[in-house]
Amino acid sequence: MPFSNSYAPIARWSSRKVPSGLMQKVFAALLLCGIGVVMGAHAQAPSPRSSPALAAGVANPKLDARVESILQQMTLEEKVGQLVQYSAGQPTGPGTGRTDYDDMIARGQIGSLFNVIDPHEINKYQKIAMEKARLHIPILFGLDVIHGFKTEFPIPLGLASTWDPSIVEKASRVAAMEASADGIKWTFSPMVDIARDARWGRMAEGAGEDPFLGSSMAAAYVRGYQGSQLDAPDSIASCAKHYVGYGAAEGGRDYNSTEISEHTLRQFYLPPFHAAVEAGTATLMSAFNSLNGVSSTANPFTLKQVLRKEWGFRGLVVSDWNSVGELIPQGIAADGATAARKAFLAGVDMDMVSSLYHDNLQQLVSSGQVTQLELDEAVRHVLRVKLALGLFEHPFVDEAGAAKALYHPESIALAQTAAERSFVLLKNTNGPNGKPLLPLAIGPQNIAVIGPLGDDSSFPNGAPAGSGPRVSLPAALAQRVGQDHVFRFKGSGILDGTDGDIAAAVAGAQKADVVILALGETPEMSGEAASRAHLGLPGRQQELLEAIVRAGRPVVLILFSGRPLTVPWAFDHVPAVIAAWLPGIGGERALARTLFGEVNPGGKLVVSWPRSVGQEPLYYNHLNTGRPAGDTDLTHPPVNIVEKYVSRYIDEQNTPQFPFGYGGSYTSFTYGSTRISTPRLSAAALNTGLADAEHQAAALTAEAEVTNTGGRAGQEVVQLYIELQGTSVAEPVRMLKGFKIVTIAPGETTKVTFELKPEAFAIWNASNEFAAEQAKVKVWISSDSAHGTPAEAEIRP
Ligand code: NOJ
Repeated sequence: MPFSNSYAPIARWSSRKVPSGLMQKVFAALLLCGIGVVMGAHAQAPSPRSSPALAAGVANPKLDARVESILQQMTLEEKVGQLVQYSAGQPTGPGTGRTDYDDMIARGQIGSLFNVIDPHEINKYQKIAMEKARLHIPILFGLDVIHGFKTEFPIPLGLASTWDPSIVEKASRVAAMEASADGIKWTFSPMVDIARDARWGRMAEGAGEDPFLGSSMAAAYVRGYQGSQLDAPDSIASCAKHYVGYGAAEGGRDYNSTEISEHTLRQFYLPPFHAAVEAGTATLMSAFNSLNGVSSTANPFTLKQVLRKEWGFRGLVVSDWNSVGELIPQGIAADGATAARKAFLAGVDMDMVSSLYHDNLQQLVSSGQVTQLELDEAVRHVLRVKLALGLFEHPFVDEAGAAKALYHPESIALAQTAAERSFVLLKNTNGPNGKPLLPLAIGPQNIAVIGPLGDDSSFPNGAPAGSGPRVSLPAALAQRVGQDHVFRFKGSGILDGTDGDIAAAVAGAQKADVVILALGETPEMSGEAASRAHLGLPGRQQELLEAIVRAGRPVVLILFSGRPLTVPWAFDHVPAVIAAWLPGIGGERALARTLFGEVNPGGKLVVSWPRSVGQEPLYYNHLNTGRPAGDTDLTHPPVNIVEKYVSRYIDEQNTPQFPFGYGGSYTSFTYGSTRISTPRLSAAALNTGLADAEHQAAALTAEAEVTNTGGRAGQEVVQLYIELQGTSVAEPVRMLKGFKIVTIAPGETTKVTFELKPEAFAIWNASNEFAAEQAKVKVWISSDSAHGTPAEAEIRP
């Protein structure tokens, strides 16, 4: 494939010195190693890579020949038109005010529309493209299908908390099926941004803070959306976003600037994108954020050097909403023409909404500032995706069939299972008889459901009432204990509340055998443009919480949110707490089943849960300082001189409330010691293995026995972490390198084995290459990122 190299690499980032194709192979293999889901004793084979038509580095001469034949017939105006995209429905950002889409399509001036969800309207636009436009190139219709189309699944943060890529793959398959039946052939998902700061509202849309887990989730979404054939009627193109570093927004404030070293970019922020590319994602979206002073939408290093040259990406890059126009306020373009030129030359093929390609690109080409070759290459990317999707053969949607794809019973069942698996049991103590409060005993009891999120009036699931077969939480509970035994009190609003409402809820609580307290955030309080400077319960909910707990009845707190919330008081005073995220259409049924123990929670945190907002950004895989504070609480005086001068806060602990990887169960698990196959590895041998990453043998095997010491079967996410010490660049205190889900019967022990291939030990080092280096190695097999005793090994030169 011809590659345009008329851009200047960013000087401060040294060029990579990785042997050709190595990084590509490293990441391909990363996906295949260490990630396994063992249900009982059975390993699950990874699904094949989707959409060979667009897979990195895979040529498709037939498709490319079609692309060339269309390209040859195109005028300059038509070529630019393929690179132009507008929102023609409910806007998801500040709009252009444009509405003349019919005319523009007829003239071949639009390549893609999004936010149109009515199949009739989709066909109307498509008819213009297919019948009136000279070359009959179909429009590609896109939408933010983030966690389901109509059958709404848990938010991506919740889906990731299952630690089960197969659930994510199945959920995105359902989303693809429903969206494609509606005429939507492109989703702006998955969001694969690493999120280390819970203030950032878009943490809700991703898989959390870890690149290893994030990579496996990224690939799973792509496989699910795109299926095994991108041109199948029920497949849609995925879009890995927001490339790149968007999640590192300073202060967690959305759209804010980012400063990320190449080491951090390569080891933490880029891997999930690479995983999506390796899985065959048809498209990527360039991000809003300025990255080390150069916007991610005008960054030739990330968009051309890394994405096209190193990874061999052959699909389409779309800008984010007006991110081309935003180069002006960001300060790297003084006018629209410059913004268009910079974004285009950096590697953004399609301009979402700004109109600056439409307004300027023809002139930029005529004046020679953009070459025909460069223009053709971008158009190729768009046409290739359209052809790979089979859009030319099947441009129209069957309007009568659209509704038939929605809300299939299996889809709804899957949404419920996904919700059940996404819940994280944060605390479970102090029930009657000294036993944990949960699960609730089956039998007659009065339940008070209290809190603004206790029914569907505040859409705790992100889906308004009436959208599909939802059941409210009180109704789901009533199915178990009877209508007459469930009492509902709002207690407060999300942001407001009256003394009277709180008093009524307290009176209700006093009469109940158990209180289910549903507090947290509405869906609008996370996601885009929803950063928060305070991470506690909004409005008067903290007051409500304390009043209800003081009423003296057993309380189960269900936190609905798109991020962890800082509620230390609750963790000190409430016996049982479940993080339910925003659990989707099956959420309430899943909660009722969980509360009554019909299902045993097994979700685990994919983000570190802070005690205070001041700890953010908070992530487990941080570097050590020269003065580590350890895990001891050093906030209470007197601290001695040794304890004083360490990296800590004087008024808050360093440790999170709950660590990454943490999650409880109605049973309990104990871990035997981690055993490794060899205490000695050789850097030279590891690097030889890296050079052939796809065929490399395991460098080290680690295993541990996990025993279910409780009274019921349970699912446990067994995690493997390593630490490397003594490397040329400091590496995190722990790095996730594997996880497996095991189901263990009470009293039984399962041996869990991980095979670590050479890439598990490779780092982006001081010479700017991925390589293994001499180091001391620790290996933990543990239940979360903060526990366990490591086995020790070393890597010799
Ligand atoms: C802006 C968001 O950042 C992006 O994620 C989304 O896909 C677009 N708007 C389109 O709605």
